[in-house]
Amino acid sequence: MIEGATVLLADDDRSIRMVLSRALGRIGCRVRATGSASALWRMIEDGEGDIVVTDVHMPDGDALDLLPAIRKKRPDLPVIVMSAQSTVLTAIRAAEAGAYEYLPKPFDLKELLDFVQSALRGKARASESPAAPPGPGDENLPLIGRSPAMQEVYRIMARLMHTDLTVTITGASGTGKELVARALHNFGKRARGPFVAINMAAIPRELIESELFGHEKGAFTGATGRGIGRFEQAEGGTLFLDEIGDMPAEAQTRLLRVLQEGEFTAVGGRAARRADVRIIAATHQDLRALIDVGRFREDLYYRLNVVPIRLPPLRQRVDDVADLARNFLRLAEREGLPRKTLSGAAIDRLKQHSWPGNVRELENLMRRLAALCPDDQIPAAVIDRELTAQTGGDAAGDGEPGVTGRTLGAAVELHLKRYFNLHGESLPPAGLRERVLREVELPLIALTLSATRGNQLKAAELLGINRNTLRKRIRELDIPVTRGKKLM
Ligand SMILES: Nc1ncnc2c1ncn2[C@@H]1O[C@H](COP(=O)(O)OP(=O)(O)OP(=O)(O)O)[C@@H](O)[C@H]1O
Ligand SMILES: [Mg+2]
Repeated sequence: MIEGATVLLADDDRSIRMVLSRALGRIGCRVRATGSASALWRMIEDGEGDIVVTDVHMPDGDALDLLPAIRKKRPDLPVIVMSAQSTVLTAIRAAEAGAYEYLPKPFDLKELLDFVQSALRGKARASESPAAPPGPGDENLPLIGRSPAMQEVYRIMARLMHTDLTVTITGASGTGKELVARALHNFGKRARGPFVAINMAAIPRELIESELFGHEKGAFTGATGRGIGRFEQAEGGTLFLDEIGDMPAEAQTRLLRVLQEGEFTAVGGRAARRADVRIIAATHQDLRALIDVGRFREDLYYRLNVVPIRLPPLRQRVDDVADLARNFLRLAEREGLPRKTLSGAAIDRLKQHSWPGNVRELENLMRRLAALCPDDQIPAAVIDRELTAQTGGDAAGDGEPGVTGRTLGAAVELHLKRYFNLHGESLPPAGLRERVLREVELPLIALTLSATRGNQLKAAELLGINRNTLRKRIRELDIPVTRGKKLM
């Protein structure tokens, strides 16, 4: 089927047409190339071609607008859509309109050829054309950002839109995990059902099971009536399991059973209930590392991680900073704060920042400036002052003294203040002491081991703890041990 198959190739960029034509020729395809949407449509109407590879924007039209007509006229004709500068909406629209595959540019040529080949092998998705839920206008994009890193995220999202597959979203704090989970729900086939979120780090560990699965009357002290769990509340919709890395062991076992059998039992109950729930999990932790130290079940990990989505930190997508910042100023304005714009230099300064708190940190800064900055156009100097004050002013030499030259306690205090600030009005997830102590203990042990050249006996003595405790902590904190070598 591939030998001699005809590819209808549409892209208004001549050099892309040439590169793709040559590559498609090499795998034995014939190519009919065009730079216009209307010419593409004529070829399709005339019954030409076995597959379409098309750019979204062409001078005389938008290929996504053609897709419904193509599906109607030639339902078996697979369409691969390529797009530069696309937003999450492009991905969603491509998926909704029944594109076989959606590839944000720039893409890997080999990947495109693989898709062409598998589509031609007859694996083209059945022409299911689900009723498209009304999408938001460009003004109300659920996710902002067109950086290559985000385009990859949108591509995965597009492929998930009409499935119930379990998804695990990972990424540092404030990178948009919850936002992605909500978008998957709102644009997916369960959009009419409820979206129920539960944060494992925010609920006392002993209550998590009954929160999730509900409980029968008398199941534990204080259970005076039957309690409905989140699984039941999310019936027909999506259950968002946030901070899944903090889920206690027993709850993990129960959750695994639900994922395996599609049924759950309330705490203290016997009757199993069917769970008609789509699961999306999220965590800022490295689940593989938690598995290594025995805090997360490996079998559960594989059940949850059917489709992983990794959200990049903001510093890896500086291209998005300007769009995000303007978006947050617009939101602030809608909430009644004065209208503000950003000077070009201000945007450059924003791009230089390393954004430890990611999108949330940028959002909080924009809100603060919308409320406090007296100028209509926020100048670079104001941004600089804010960002320098936050990072402790190491580089600038003015304002607050930097981390270097301070006591350890003061440095920790500075970091903690910043951490609390990042959360604005809300509070960080529970379990703070453990997390902070862990952060301090890790370099403490790693550097001590380095100083003793990996000699654990000496390191234990130096630290003033017993050797078994040291071993245990090395395991738990996942510290690499190499004997006889200076580690850092
Ligand atoms: N791509 C984006 N476009 C617009 N807003 C975003 C984007 N990503 C994140 N945000 C905003 O940043 C804030 C943090 O996002 P969200 O709560 O989804 O992050 P998170 O990864 O779940 O963080 P945490 O790990 O702290 O729970 C939210 O107010 C969200 O609206
Ligand atoms: Mg979150």
